[in-house]
Amino acid sequence: MIDVILGLQWGDEGKGKIADYLTPNYDLVARFQGGPNAGHSLEFEGKKFVLNTIPSGIFRKNTLNLIGNGVVIDPVRLKEEIGRIVNECPDYSSRLLISKKAHLILPTHRILDAASEASKGEAKIGSTLRGIGPTYRDKIGRSGLRVGDILEADFQKRYDSTVSEHLKQIEFLGYTQFDLEAEQKSFFEAIEFLKTHQLVNSEYLIHDMISQGKKILAEGAQGSMLDVEFGTYPYVTSSNTLTGGVCTGLGVAPKHINKVYGIFKAYCTRVGSGPFPTELDDEIGEKMRQIGNEFGATTGRKRRTGWLDLVALKYTCMLNGVDDLIMMKGDVLNGFDELNVATEYSINGEKTSQVPANLCSTDVEPVYQSFPGWSSDMNLSAGFDAMDDSFKNYVEFIEKYIGSKISVISMGPGRDETLSR
Ligand code: GDP
Ligand code: IMO
Ligand code: MG
Repeated sequence: MIDVILGLQWGDEGKGKIADYLTPNYDLVARFQGGPNAGHSLEFEGKKFVLNTIPSGIFRKNTLNLIGNGVVIDPVRLKEEIGRIVNECPDYSSRLLISKKAHLILPTHRILDAASEASKGEAKIGSTLRGIGPTYRDKIGRSGLRVGDILEADFQKRYDSTVSEHLKQIEFLGYTQFDLEAEQKSFFEAIEFLKTHQLVNSEYLIHDMISQGKKILAEGAQGSMLDVEFGTYPYVTSSNTLTGGVCTGLGVAPKHINKVYGIFKAYCTRVGSGPFPTELDDEIGEKMRQIGNEFGATTGRKRRTGWLDLVALKYTCMLNGVDDLIMMKGDVLNGFDELNVATEYSINGEKTSQVPANLCSTDVEPVYQSFPGWSSDMNLSAGFDAMDDSFKNYVEFIEKYIGSKISVISMGPGRDETLSR
């Protein structure tokens, strides 16, 4: 049986914190898509970690962690990431499994990402420049290299031929700002390091665990509005971030998917380019950014901020088949006088509660409902019922609008700042 936890907005909802919080209930935590474009933050016992490719269950001693076939892995970044956690988890390698079918991000994928963004100018996606798009492009184009390939005798030959193809594309784009020799040196060192890990046929492993009645948590990366099919295309990432991605990203049949937890912030953020109907380009948005520390966990980029968008949230709950909602960062709105929530979009004067097919070329005006703010010193210690009425009213309005229960509320980055209802 597999439960899923994924982001319902544009990423950075707090998936890392909640995956870590839920992990004690699971035997395995598995990433099924994305790669080191993700930055999942975890805070406990006064320590803070940011994970990019490693699943967020790694700090709990009784749980296995799998980097699934749907993930794209940069061996260099993975090695660095392991370097950041190894003191905390000296036994990490006994609990970290890596699918042989996961695709490799090569140095030239990263360079191609940069070259492609530079060539787009103003129209750039705002990619994290981790090589995600070019790696998935090669996967779909049937010319990618996979983790299992590093164990084959012809790996170097296949690497060289892929790189020579990439160099033609990079030259065509007129991009010259890179030092391939240095990057290749770290890449091959990291490949040797990768070989010392448990490289597995993960689809069999998961299948066996399911047969034995073990509990698995699939941890999404990015967010549903960044999904390559249903997000704000082309301003999206290159993977399927929705529940559907769990099946292809881990090799499991839909019938094994049990509960879907959808995570959202009590407001909205987005990093990179693309439509964001409820964006606040003013002092309220700046206040959210400062209080919420809305700067990228990996790239340090400023996140754009705005009011909660229930039209988009309801859409992504529908796409994912969300059972339970998890609301994050309610504390960031503590002490705001008034809050707005978008309940409809107005398009050419017509109101709709549907996200238009092409949000990028549609002029959308959010229709807001206002709510009184709650007190500035609210916390979870006395339980939900004892909380400020305005807060309860906000939570219950969202539940009613979406038609799902908010089963977990997070009011701070730490493990203990979490309320299960
Ligand atoms: P992820 O990518 O979905 O895992 O989210 P990120 O880690 O990129 O961004 C979430 C940020 O919010 C991190 O800095 C977390 O430590 C922090 N965070 C998570 N939950 C809460 C919360 O309830 N309140 C506050 N103030 N911060 C939170
Ligand atoms: P987590 O898992 C927020 C955004 C980038 C860019 C677009 C495409 O931490 O929530 P890519 O590098 O994938 O080609 O970038 O997607 N993006 C994210 N935004 N959180 C993430 O991950 C993201 N991963 C990618 O900013 O707009
Ligand atoms: Mg993040």
